[in-house]
Amino acid sequence: MNTLATAPLSPLLERLFTEADAATSPAVAEMSRDERQRLMQSKTEYLDFYERLKDLWLPVSRETGRLLYMLARAAKARSVVEFGTSFGISTLHLAAAVRDNGGGRVITTEFEPAKVARARQHLAEGGLSELVEVRAGDALQTLSSDLPDSIDLLLLDGAKSLYAEVLALVEPRLRPGALIVADNADNSPEYLAHVRAPASGYLSVPFADDVELSMRVG
Ligand SMILES: C[S@@+](CC[C@H](N)C(=O)[O-])C[C@H]1O[C@@H](n2cnc3c(N)ncnc32)[C@H](O)[C@@H]1O
Repeated sequence: MNTLATAPLSPLLERLFTEADAATSPAVAEMSRDERQRLMQSKTEYLDFYERLKDLWLPVSRETGRLLYMLARAAKARSVVEFGTSFGISTLHLAAAVRDNGGGRVITTEFEPAKVARARQHLAEGGLSELVEVRAGDALQTLSSDLPDSIDLLLLDGAKSLYAEVLALVEPRLRPGALIVADNADNSPEYLAHVRAPASGYLSVPFADDVELSMRVG
């Protein structure tokens, strides 16, 4: 069973990656590189920053998408949490893996309402809606309650400045051996210091296309 490589998901992802590549944002074009870097690391201005980026899809790369599917399959993940849905490209990969593992639930969260609506539409097109709960709002609220007792895989792909806070919310539910994939983690030095610290309860390595791959130990 490989939902990723078959219709309707395979042609849908090809179309969505192409649309994502073509998306532009005048607001971002006007932002200097320094300003963008500063806002990306801010713990107080992240909502404003991502509101300005709302026209951009900012998806995981095609390779990271495939990697997510492979890791979730290898971990036999049936309970997945994602921070940062955007238009749903990474969510589609994770939900495909959960389906091919025999079913389960992906909880994903996004605060931008237009993105939530498009992500739900794409999940319906991919035939994966019944596996995914899209929580609309700030992850610091939406992931602070009603999490599954045991979580097999966590994808961090929202505001980089919040990776450590979101991990702290989910951490009590991560099963031993759970995987944490943090995209573009180089922009989150606080998070990297935490998961790489020997006493933190994780094993962690930089991996693939600007990803930090960590495993909950014990
Ligand atoms: C890099 S994009 C996610 C891309 C998505 N994972 C994919 O591969 O298609 C980051 C998304 O996280 C959302 N986001 C950022 N901070 C958030 C927060 N605190 N709560 C919920 N969503 C947030 C942004 O609006 C943006 O759409």
